Amino acid sequence: MNSLIATARALMNRGKGLLAMDESVGTCNRRLGEFGIAQTEESRRRYRELLVTAPGLSDSISGAILFDETLQQRTQDGVLFIDVLRRNGILVGIKVDVGAKALAGHPGERVTEGLDGLRERLAHYSSLGARFAKWRAVLAIGDGLPGPACTLVNAHALARYATLCQEAKIVPIVEPEVLMEGVHTLARCGEVTAEVLHHVFDQCYRQGVILEAMILKPNMVLPGVSSTEASTLDEIADATIGCLARAVPAAVAGVAFLSGGQPAQLATARLNALNLRTNSSRTVHEVPFPSIPWPLTFSFGRALQQPALSLWAGCDANRDVAQRALLHRARCNGAATRGAYRSAMDMEGLAI
Ligand code: G3H
Repeated sequence: MNSLIATARALMNRGKGLLAMDESVGTCNRRLGEFGIAQTEESRRRYRELLVTAPGLSDSISGAILFDETLQQRTQDGVLFIDVLRRNGILVGIKVDVGAKALAGHPGERVTEGLDGLRERLAHYSSLGARFAKWRAVLAIGDGLPGPACTLVNAHALARYATLCQEAKIVPIVEPEVLMEGVHTLARCGEVTAEVLHHVFDQCYRQGVILEAMILKPNMVLPGVSSTEASTLDEIADATIGCLARAVPAAVAGVAFLSGGQPAQLATARLNALNLRTNSSRTVHEVPFPSIPWPLTFSFGRALQQPALSLWAGCDANRDVAQRALLHRARCNGAATRGAYRSAMDMEGLAI
């Protein structure tokens, strides 16, 4: 168990976060297609090679979450991506769910699948060098959504996945994502996120997940993308920290936020505000603001990759500039984990 806890702590290394590059074949193809890049296995390989070989990536990235296909992929020189990462001191993780499927009897809601055969797959991934894993549940906010059944079955599956991971000596990243899509308010997102987290940790407790050896990957508490509500960085930080403080046990090794489709710079600024808030002793409505016990970092996909992908656009001549864009975002987010990000860093970064 000590080695699992050590891995979880290494992933939460101060000043660093996680690179989520675990897009399934379909999702990766869709993102490539948005920039007119051929949707082929070779395009996916070339793009991922660009990501894993970015020089200095380990300065700000402690772990990379891969997709099954990527575990087998190699650089043009024939080196396995996982070996490139490990040589650079970046821990290898693997997405092990097989996606969110329609939840029978509950129109508009989904449950994440992938538990069948998971014990065997985890043993295989562990033998290949995976040290941590990820499972993502998705919950939409809407009229009467998420319903209690959707919340419960997803929490149950997350805890089953987490116990299987720990049995296999793999650190589970537990990701219950409350989606940004919708017209809901910041307060509504906070209520739903708290409800979901209460169920997740209830199931973790009942099923015996060792909290010190798991990482929570939540959404930030945000108003819906189609909401007319404008929330400041501080309001979002207060809503998110208040929600987590009430719902997440202190023993959890760390919190690594997903970006969920937020613009890259905004996701960084919000992470920074979260870390600034945790460092201040102050009151909100005359009540002491809760202090929190876990490091807060990033496990971003789009908010790390998007600038690099758009600059690369499938062209080898753009490879260096794309890698610099990835490193720049990683550094900005690394700074945000210490509350040290300033928007001027992005102004300078425009010179990439
Ligand atoms: O499961 C989702 C990814 O790991 C994070 O992706 O930051 O683009 O939401 P995102």
